[in-house]
Amino acid sequence: MFDNTHAHITTWVIAIILFFVAVRLHNAGKAKGMKVVHMILRLFYLLIILTGALLFWKHQGINPALYGIKALVGVWVIGMFEMILVRMNKGKSTKMFWILLVISLIIVFILGFSLPLGI
Ligand code: HEM
Repeated sequence: MFDNTHAHITTWVIAIILFFVAVRLHNAGKAKGMKVVHMILRLFYLLIILTGALLFWKHQGINPALYGIKALVGVWVIGMFEMILVRMNKGKSTKMFWILLVISLIIVFILGFSLPLGI
């Protein structure tokens, strides 16, 4: 968990899948199902942050600035997941947050994969 990115990758891959399942359930009008998936997704937010923080603490000395930005953008992605799902439930517009989600995902992938650990 400290020296490779496997656990971290596992958590965010599952979170991305759960996020899209929650969106689909919402669009299908299955409010109860969406609520359950949303709760599980929130647990995965914690696991992403935990596994990311463990990597960060051990390795940020390599490049503190870039690791710091990577962590912040990771939290930004999670924030966009949450904003989209909460606003969907309230019937508010989510267009802006979808755009921000795509931007934050692109940045987090570029930064994540260009940092030295993992692939
Ligand atoms: C949904 C949110 C997130 C996504 C999609 C994401 C994505 C990634 C990716 C693609 C990598 C590279 C994996 C590899 O090269 O094997 C990575 C590594 C990393 N992530 Fe995240 N991440 C997220 C959240 C976070 C958070 C919240 C933190 C900090 C609290 C964090 C800290 C790190 C660190 C320290 C690394 C290791 C960088 C390295 O040296 O390669 N991530 N992440």
